[in-house]
Amino acid sequence: MSNKADRSILFPKSRFAWLWENMAGKRGLFVAALIGTVVYNILQLVVPFFSGKLVDLFLSLNESGETLSENAHTFYFFIGMMVGLTLFRVIVVYLTCMAFEHVSQSALFKIRNFLYDKIQRQDMKFYSTYRTGDLMTRVTGDLDAVRHNIAWVIRSIVESFTLFGAAAVYFLVMDWKLALAILVISPLIFVIIFRFRKTVAPKHALLREKLAGMNTYAQENISGNRVVKAFAREDYEIAKFDGANNDYAQTNINTQYTWLKFYPYVESIANLMPIVLLVIGGVFIINGDLSMGEYVSFSGLIWAIANPMRQMGNIMNEFQRFNAASAKVMEIYYSEPEIVDAPDAISHPGRFDGSIEFDHVSFQYEDGNLPVLKDVSFKARPGETIAIIGETGCGKTSLIQMIPRFYEPTSGHVLVDGVDVSRYKLEDLRKNIGLATQDVLLYSDTIEGNIAYGVSHLTAQEVVKFARYSAAEEFILKMPEGYDTIVGERGVGLSGGQKQRISLARALAIEPSILILDDTTSAVDMETEKHIQHSLRDLDFKCTKIIIAQRISTTKFADKILVLKDGRIIEEGSHEELVAKGGYYRDLVELQLGESVEALKGSVNIAD
Ligand code: GTP
Ligand code: MG
Repeated sequence: MSNKADRSILFPKSRFAWLWENMAGKRGLFVAALIGTVVYNILQLVVPFFSGKLVDLFLSLNESGETLSENAHTFYFFIGMMVGLTLFRVIVVYLTCMAFEHVSQSALFKIRNFLYDKIQRQDMKFYSTYRTGDLMTRVTGDLDAVRHNIAWVIRSIVESFTLFGAAAVYFLVMDWKLALAILVISPLIFVIIFRFRKTVAPKHALLREKLAGMNTYAQENISGNRVVKAFAREDYEIAKFDGANNDYAQTNINTQYTWLKFYPYVESIANLMPIVLLVIGGVFIINGDLSMGEYVSFSGLIWAIANPMRQMGNIMNEFQRFNAASAKVMEIYYSEPEIVDAPDAISHPGRFDGSIEFDHVSFQYEDGNLPVLKDVSFKARPGETIAIIGETGCGKTSLIQMIPRFYEPTSGHVLVDGVDVSRYKLEDLRKNIGLATQDVLLYSDTIEGNIAYGVSHLTAQEVVKFARYSAAEEFILKMPEGYDTIVGERGVGLSGGQKQRISLARALAIEPSILILDDTTSAVDMETEKHIQHSLRDLDFKCTKIIIAQRISTTKFADKILVLKDGRIIEEGSHEELVAKGGYYRDLVELQLGESVEALKGSVNIAD
C-alpha cells in the first residue's frame, strides 16, 4: 500500500503538464478554445454596457425623445451592436464548446490507448498487484473524470475568472469607489473555497476507492458466477454487493453534503453584493456621483461578479474529483514493468536450439515471505523431455515461469542456449516458447481462432494438424460448427480436458523451440493422454519439452525426471533410475500403480 502511495507522488509530470502532453496535435485548438472562452465571456458584458449607454443617452434624460430623433443612427447602432454581438457570442460559445469536446475526446482516446498498451505490456507482478475491477475503473470512470476536466472544469475556471476579472475592471473604470465597495467582499469567498477544498479532497479520494471496490465485486461475481451458483450463494453475494453499493452511495452523499455545509456562506456573500450595490449605489445616485445609466450597468452586471463565486464550489468539487481520478490514471500511465529488455539485449529472431539450464536458481515472490525455489540446478539438452513432479505448492509452476522470464530468479541464472534469458529480447525469447498454463484461458473466439492465437497466418490444415497432435480433433468435429464453434469467455461450453487440449494445440501451433506444459493433461483420460504423448514424441519440429505432471504415466517416458520438494530438487534421473533408487519417486510409483492394481483386483473380484 505504502509502495503504491509513494508511486503516486513520484509522477514525472504535474497533472496539467500531463494533460498538455496528451493534447498533442490538438493544442492549437485547445488554446483557441481558451481564447474563445475569454472572448465570449467579455462579450457577456457588452450588452449591459450598451444598455447602460442607451439608458443614459435616450431614456433617463428629460429631452430623451428629442435626442432619439436627432441621433436615431446612434440608437440603431447600439441596438445593432447588441443584437450582432449577442449573435456573435452565441456562435463563439458554440464553437468553443465543440472545440473543448473535441480536444477532450481526443485526449481521452489517446490516454486510453496508451493505458491499454501499458497494461498489456506489464509483467506478472503488476497483475498480481492490481485487481481487474480496479484497473477497469481506471480506464473508464477515472479517465472520464480526466476528460470532464478538459471539457468542463478548465473551461469553467477560465470562464469564471474572465467574467469576474472583466466585470471588476469594467466596474473600476466606471466608478472605482462603488466597485471597491462591492469587490472588497470577494476575497472572503476564496478563503471559504480554500477550506472547502481541504475538506473535500480526501472525500473524493475515498469515493473513488469505493467505486473501484464496487466494480471489483461486480467483476468478480459476474465472471465467477458459476462458483456463486454452485454454492447457492447468490443471496449472500447480492447482499455483499448491496452493501458495497450502499457504502458508495453514502460516501457520495457525504461528499456532496460537504459543499452544502459551505454553500450557505458562499451564497450569502454572493447575495450580499446586490444589496451593497443597492445601498451604496443609491447613496451615490442621490449625491449625484453616479448616473442612472451607470447604475443600470452595475446592476445588470452584478451577476458577473456573484455567479463566478457561486460557481467556484462546483468547480472545486469537480476539480478534486479530477485530482483523485487523475492520480489513479497517472499511476498506471507512468508505471513501468520491471522485467524489460536490457538496453543491450541480444536479438535472436530465429529458432533456439532449445537447451535449458538452471544454474543455482533461488526464488522468492516479492510479496511472499518464504523462498519458493532453493538452489535449483539442472540441464536440458535440445530436444529432450524433462518431467517435473512434486506435491502441490512445491514450486513447479514458479520454476517454469523463470524460463519465459515472467519472474526473475532472486539468485542464480536461467540460461537458454547457454545465454542468460535476461540477455535476450523478451519478444524473441517468448515467441520461441510454447506454454500451456495450468489454468486454461481461452478467448471468446472460434476454436480455430483459439488454436491459431499465436500465429496469425496458420492455415486451416495446420490448425487440424495441431488439433490432431493434441488429440482434440475428435471432439472438435463433434461440435455443431466444428472448428468454427465459438467458445465462450474463458472457454465456457468446453470440458476441462477439452480446454486443456485446445490450449496444448495453441502452444504447439507456434512450433516452439521450448514447449512447457503445466499439468496440461491432468484432466484428460489415460487413453487420450497416451495419444498426446505419442504425438509429442513425433512432432515434426524439434523442441525441448518441460512437462509438469502428477501422473507416473506422463513422466515415465521423459529423458529426465526432476522431483521437487519444498522448492528443492530432491531426486533427478530417468524413470528406471529413480525407481531403482527407491526414494520419493519410487513411493509415488507404488502409490499410483498400487492403487490401480487394487482397483484391478476389485473389478476382477466383481467379475468373478
Ligand atoms: P501445484 O500447481 O498446485 O501443483 O503447485 P506448484 O508446484 O505449481 O506451486 P507454485 O509454484 O504455484 O507455488 C509455489 C509456492 O509459491 C506456493 O507456496 C504458493 O503459495 C507460492 N506462490 C505461487 N504464486 C505466488 C504469487 O504470485 N505470489 C506469492 N506471494 N506467492 C505465490
Ligand atoms: Mg502449479
